[in-house]
Amino acid sequence: MALLPILRFPDLRLHTKAAPVEALDASVAALIRDMAETMYAAEGVGLAATQVDVHQRIAVIDVSEKRDTLQVFINGEIVGREGACESEEGCLSVPGVRETVPRAERVTVRALNEKGEPFELEAEGLLAVCLQHEFDHLDGKVFVEYLSRLKQGRIKTRLFKQAQDDKDAKD
Ligand code: NI
Repeated sequence: MALLPILRFPDLRLHTKAAPVEALDASVAALIRDMAETMYAAEGVGLAATQVDVHQRIAVIDVSEKRDTLQVFINGEIVGREGACESEEGCLSVPGVRETVPRAERVTVRALNEKGEPFELEAEGLLAVCLQHEFDHLDGKVFVEYLSRLKQGRIKTRLFKQAQDDKDAKD
C-alpha cells in the first residue's frame, strides 16, 4: 500500500473528466486500497481518483464516526436528486478552505462495489453531499467552482501563495 500525492486546486489536471473502469483487475484493486489509505491518512471523508491524478471513475468514501466503514463506488452515477440544501464543504485538494455550496438533499446512486457487483443506494445528509462532491471531481469539477469568480480568484491566490511558501520552506 502507498500514500498517493493529492493534486491541489488550481491544478488543471483536476478538470479532467474520468473514464469508466472497464475491468476490475489487480491494478484497480491496488488503486482502491491506496486511495483508501490516502483518504484515511489525510483525514478526509471522501477521495476521487481524479484527485490522485488517475482519471477513472472511482471514489472512496467513509462518513462513519469510527472511520471503519469504507464505501467504494466504481462507475458511479447519480440517477436521482431530490430537495435542496446548503452544504459547508472542504476538500483535500483545496486545503484550508471551507465554503458553502448548493447541493441536492437526497440522491440515488448506481455504482459497482469493489467486487464489481452493481448496487443502488439512496443517500441523505453527509453521505449525499459527499457523493455529489466526489462525483463532481470525476466530472472534472471542484466544489469551489460553485462560488463566485471573485471568491474563486481569492482562493486561487491564497493557494498559490501557500504552495510558494511550502516550496520556500523546503528550499
Ligand atoms: Ni474534494
